[in-house]
Amino acid sequence: MFITLEGLDGSGKTTQAKLLAESLRKQGYEVKLCREPGDTTLGEIIRGLLVNGGPELPVNRYAEMLLFMAARAQLVEEVIRPALDEGQIVISDRYLLSGVVYQGHAGDLDPAEVACIGAYVTDFLQPDCTVILDLDPALAEQRRGKPRDNRERRIPAYFERVRLGYLREATTDPIRRKVVDASGDRDHVSQLVQEAVQRRMQAPLRRAA
Ligand code: TYD
Repeated sequence: MFITLEGLDGSGKTTQAKLLAESLRKQGYEVKLCREPGDTTLGEIIRGLLVNGGPELPVNRYAEMLLFMAARAQLVEEVIRPALDEGQIVISDRYLLSGVVYQGHAGDLDPAEVACIGAYVTDFLQPDCTVILDLDPALAEQRRGKPRDNRERRIPAYFERVRLGYLREATTDPIRRKVVDASGDRDHVSQLVQEAVQRRMQAPLRRAA
């Protein structure tokens, strides 16, 4: 089972990914937790370039999308596929939907093209369940509580487009993609996330389209 968590920066997905992993482990599952971009040598270098206060690099929109894709392709082959093959549950903090939404809906690229390239470079590995943590961008900003990284120094309208992009994408695959209201406290949101995942685990798995 491959689960991904998505949402705005500050929506709490990193905390929620950890809480979900803990709760699944308590139920006896083996769980592999990973994040994007990152968790491989290449992925961490790309994170350093694009996210973590790296140099203000001139990166055009295609190059940026492809760098995120490169990190993802490596993560799938090195970490996610092997863990799934061993029967573990994989929880990824962000996956392809981040590219579709940030570079597509909120950025300047065609979301369908980004999705297409992403499907190819991940060898068509789709999450079985994607939990989208939905939150007002103003609240997400307050919650972030740490210095903004390169990408977060963007205008509020950008984050509004990110939010709407996620909501629009959720409607295209309501069985796999679950929107969770992330405005409550940590434990309440964690409960909602667990319920969304349980519902999906009980539903029959559909083959990738
Ligand atoms: P995130 O890991 O949530 O950052 P943090 O560690 O600060 O919580 O995400 C990194 C940033 O990269 C975030 O602003 C979203 C962005 N991003 C994209 O624009 N496209 C992508 O494909 C991915 C995976 C992330």
